[in-house]
Amino acid sequence: MKCYELQGPSGIDGLALVDKPVPEPGQGEVLVRLKAATLNYRDLLTVKGGYGSRQKFPLVPVSDGAGVIERVGPGVREFAAGDRVIGSFFESWLSGEPSQAKMRANLGGAVDGVLQEYRIFPEHAVVRTPDHLSDLEAASLPCAGLTAWSAVVKLGNIRPGQTVLTQGTGGVSIFALQFAVACGARVIATSSSDAKLARLAELGAAELINYRELPEWGRLVVERTAGVGADLVVEVGGAQSLSQSLRAVRVGGTIALIGVLSGGRAELNLGPVVTRQVRLQGVTVGSRERLGEMIAAMTANGIRPVIDRVFPLDEIKDALLYLKAGRHFGKVCIEIQS
Ligand SMILES: NC(=O)c1ccc[n+]([C@@H]2O[C@H](COP(=O)([O-])OP(=O)(O)OC[C@H]3O[C@@H](n4cnc5c(N)ncnc54)[C@H](OP(=O)(O)O)[C@@H]3O)[C@@H](O)[C@H]2O)c1
Repeated sequence: MKCYELQGPSGIDGLALVDKPVPEPGQGEVLVRLKAATLNYRDLLTVKGGYGSRQKFPLVPVSDGAGVIERVGPGVREFAAGDRVIGSFFESWLSGEPSQAKMRANLGGAVDGVLQEYRIFPEHAVVRTPDHLSDLEAASLPCAGLTAWSAVVKLGNIRPGQTVLTQGTGGVSIFALQFAVACGARVIATSSSDAKLARLAELGAAELINYRELPEWGRLVVERTAGVGADLVVEVGGAQSLSQSLRAVRVGGTIALIGVLSGGRAELNLGPVVTRQVRLQGVTVGSRERLGEMIAAMTANGIRPVIDRVFPLDEIKDALLYLKAGRHFGKVCIEIQS
């Protein structure tokens, strides 16, 4: 089978195509014929070896994939050959609160990912693909989709009429917008591009802000919420945007800290966090159980991921460069096999 592998932290050019035997599923395992993968910003970090100390080499990168079960090993009860499935981001975080042990085996980081034609998964580390989604759409869910779900629905506990602020038009932020709209929230969305803002309006964003033209956008969010501020900020910007997010969030509101696109070190005025009782909480993807909840909600509400562009597996390097350029709107996908 075809497999892309990184021998070390050598960047996109270091990705090598290797030929490997198709593995056999053991006790409690399923062999998945992977059909689709999607890229996350994280994959740009892993090719450089920049995703935490537990990143292994050689590594099959990319966490998010979907496909069809080819064979099942002994003792598998929940699935059979022919079932369409999605891999869970953390192989061992099945449910409940996170722990170091549950978060150890993250795909495409500490364990091999999905940039290969076949992969063995423990039975407990896949979920069923809903009928309304293609394999490419399904492959968007494990990291970007679930992280947004965890921020908006679990941490944010968003209720109809509340206000959610999303930043940019990457995978996580567009899912966050879709989930917030489905919860009945009013979404204020930012982007560096007016053309992308127009597309966010089509997806249901009520207020649009160009963060490049208006770097002090926090004040505008307060103005547009009658002086109150947003109930939830879905923070992906990091160093450059966190001070604006602190300005934008309401007293007692929540900042879900998901990404640090503009850097991980910020000089912040911490006083308002205390006096305005802001909850600043990190979010890291979620459990398999939560992935299942999210899929049930997407099925009930007919929510489909926003796909920007699909590259064939052989063009993986171009796909990563395209993601790096940041011109995409939603998910950049890889067709592994038809
Ligand atoms: N904690 C977790 O579990 C978790 C899970 C997934 C992702 N993440 C993190 O979340 C971030 C987004 O990931 P992604 O995969 O959705 O990325 P992505 O698809 O590559 O999105 C990048 C987009 O973010 C916007 N952006 C860039 N710099 C920005 C800034 N300074 N302020 C606001 N927006 C900015 C841009 O949108 P415009 O072109 O519209 O301006 C850009 O196109 C990354 O830092 C990633 O590592 C964390």
